[in-house]
Amino acid sequence: MTLATVDDAGHPSARIVLLKDVDARGFVFYTNYESRKGRELLAHPWAALCFHWQPMERQVRVEGPVERVSAAEADAYFASRARMSRIGAWASRQSATLESDAELRQRVQEVEARFAGGDVPRPPNWSGFRVAPQRIEFWRGRPYRLHERLLYERDDTGWRVRRLFP
Ligand SMILES: Cc1cc2nc3c(=O)[nH]c(=O)nc-3n(C[C@H](O)[C@H](O)[C@H](O)COP(=O)(O)O)c2cc1C
Repeated sequence: MTLATVDDAGHPSARIVLLKDVDARGFVFYTNYESRKGRELLAHPWAALCFHWQPMERQVRVEGPVERVSAAEADAYFASRARMSRIGAWASRQSATLESDAELRQRVQEVEARFAGGDVPRPPNWSGFRVAPQRIEFWRGRPYRLHERLLYERDDTGWRVRRLFP
């Protein structure tokens, strides 16, 4: 899914992340909290998500406040990842300047040596965010750009739905 965040100047940025969990509480993805997106979400805990299924002509847009997942939830997901992915999470200072590819390989080797033979725990700055939906829009493509748009908005009593012009 595409994840959009905003910085202190109100400038948006967007990137793809993997949706790892979804339930009534919201949409969960995992990342480095010191990455650009991580810092932006910790400072401005509101996000927009966008999904696109091109062959089905469907789009789903989600917006809402963001919270951190619990340590237990993040630990459980981190433990399910491949060992090299867990090592990569330690080795990558995500979004920081990398002087050379060799520097990354060097960091991977150092992390491998550090955890040689043992478990690779979750790095303290690696965890998940949950986007709690306040708005969800379902878009369905139709001929002549007369598309269907259904906007669900959450209030104190539940969800309200209305149609939008395409
Ligand atoms: C298919 C795909 C899946 C990705 N999944 C994730 C993810 O789940 N978490 C993550 O941090 N980055 C993921 N990335 C990398 C991000 O798009 C991005 O490059 C990275 O997180 C750094 O973003 P930032 O500098 O804006 O924080 C994925 C990229 C692609 C193309």
